[in-house]
Amino acid sequence: MKKKLSNRLRRYKRYLRYGLQYYLYEKPRGLDFTMRDMHLIKESGGVLHGYSKTNEKHLKEIFNTLHIKKEDRLLDVGCGKGVVLREAARYPFEKITGIDIDTNLVKTARKNFEILKLSGRVDCMAVNAIDYRKYGDYNTFFFFNPFSQEIFQAVINEIIAENEGRRQIRIIYHNPVYQEVVEATRRFKKIKEMYDDTKDYTTNIYISEWEA
Ligand SMILES: C[S@@+](CC[C@H](N)C(=O)[O-])C[C@H]1O[C@@H](n2cnc3c(N)ncnc32)[C@H](O)[C@@H]1O
Repeated sequence: MKKKLSNRLRRYKRYLRYGLQYYLYEKPRGLDFTMRDMHLIKESGGVLHGYSKTNEKHLKEIFNTLHIKKEDRLLDVGCGKGVVLREAARYPFEKITGIDIDTNLVKTARKNFEILKLSGRVDCMAVNAIDYRKYGDYNTFFFFNPFSQEIFQAVINEIIAENEGRRQIRIIYHNPVYQEVVEATRRFKKIKEMYDDTKDYTTNIYISEWEA
């Protein structure tokens, strides 16, 4: 009961902060990272999850923990409006890409990057993660609970197929509701569990255990 109340309060505080962020800072500049978009979750009956962003402060904590090197390459699987990519651009990643199934969200992300003059630094494309076949171009994968367990399983299998024995990889899994999918592969070791107190979500960071 107490926990439910504190979660609700936390959520209202977050919505208030996001509202202020959007109407006072983003909208006047033509930007939009903040507003939630839940139509996908409704239309797909919960198979695909809707858009909401990862908190920027938490992203900073995650990227600081990873000690990013200039050969690191990040793919945000389900990038939405691009907040992870924008934050990643502050770090020395060699390549930063996002994919999202929702073409409207990708349009918004691209507009955001144009306004912020980040279009040359980050890339974003409309594609279903299930059909994507370039997981071998990256060594760092970000997921914020984008889809159902079945789709997540297929994507993790493809990531393994394209990278096992070739390069070491990391998986950053924010709000890891299907963490057993990653863990049951026995290919990854959890090296860190972090906590985002603005949402009461954890983030698991895994590294591959195969020889490369
Ligand atoms: C919770 S949002 C996360 C956005 C962003 N990664 C962040 O952390 O701020 C999840 C995103 O996954 C996208 N998504 C859902 N199913 C997908 C799929 N099959 N392929 C690619 N993207 C998908 C949604 O459109 C949504 O934008």
